[in-house]
Amino acid sequence: MKVGGFMSEKETVLVTGGAGYIGSHTVKQLLKKNYEVVVFDNLVSGNEEFVLTENFVKGDIGNRKLLNETFRKYEPEAVMHFAAHCRVGESVRDPAKYYENNVVKGLTLLDTARNFGIDKFIFSSSAAIYGDPEEVPIKEEAPKEPENPYGRTKLTFERILEDYSGAYPVSACSLRYFNAAGTDPEGELGEIHDPETHLIPVVLEAAAGERDYVEIFGSDYDTPDGTAIRDFIHVNDLAMAHISALDMLDREGENYLAYNLGTGQGHSVKEVIETCKEVTEIDIPVREGNRRPGDPPKLVADPGKGYRGLNWEPEFKDLSPIVETSWNWIKQRYNIN
Ligand code: UFG
Repeated sequence: MKVGGFMSEKETVLVTGGAGYIGSHTVKQLLKKNYEVVVFDNLVSGNEEFVLTENFVKGDIGNRKLLNETFRKYEPEAVMHFAAHCRVGESVRDPAKYYENNVVKGLTLLDTARNFGIDKFIFSSSAAIYGDPEEVPIKEEAPKEPENPYGRTKLTFERILEDYSGAYPVSACSLRYFNAAGTDPEGELGEIHDPETHLIPVVLEAAAGERDYVEIFGSDYDTPDGTAIRDFIHVNDLAMAHISALDMLDREGENYLAYNLGTGQGHSVKEVIETCKEVTEIDIPVREGNRRPGDPPKLVADPGKGYRGLNWEPEFKDLSPIVETSWNWIKQRYNIN
């Protein structure tokens, strides 16, 4: 509420990880909806060029002193917590890094928020909490058996939020993303990961000549074309779901809620590559390789509970328009006409 020494009339949202891919796209939508936004990001994986507000604190969510100063200065009413490490393979090699950042430091943030009386907390969770599901499409109530430390850190933090919201005056909502994809249709924001491992940008980088080829990780899955199936949801749709969640917490005052965010449509790795070929009109070089350890064959959301509970639905329902936004970003990034 209090921003830059003056009282702001608007609701203030503190966004951790607001310089990252999903965080920055959400900040943009919050600003469009006239929220006051404070970005808190250590820029380890975020990009300063994606910070769209002057209210920017460069810092780590484990820094209790800086968090205290930030909450005191800006008096936010809600926290959206995106800041996290998110590489599955890395989490297997270095679980300590993931538990430290995604759980221990997340708790420092949550406790600070609680001390300042913040009663709305929205958390970036993941389909990774379901592991290799028995039933697809996946409902929120499905068994949670994450298969890697990354997924376990997300599930652990969800449980902490559930316990906190049962005991303290805080309402929390976990949003379980399926495969975030696409970029800002206005071209102001994009997707930069170093290294890039996500399927759509990898395929488009191959189209752009930034990679020699794209490797398909496994063509022997029990799926119609033998490649893995995922549910790709546009990053702007994820952003809008966060704003709906904020409204919902205001309205309902529920203690703890969790929703799957997906489109409910599955696309195989081969279908994604074909769509990228159509959108770019480039014959992208492809090689078939081995499965990537830890990849479930099929992850598709049952998004119905989120549609109803959040009063929200994705605008990008098809894959082509999602890929088009990513391709526009890649062309801009690598100066391709
Ligand atoms: N893939 C390839 N070649 C590549 C990259 C990916 O074949 O070069 C395949 C993967 O094996 C997988 C699919 O494309 O089958 C999607 O892979 P991504 O890396 O794009 O995404 P994931 O489904 O592995 O990961 C996403 C999120 C994670 C989250 C996970 C939940 O990015 O943060 O879903 O399982 F943990």
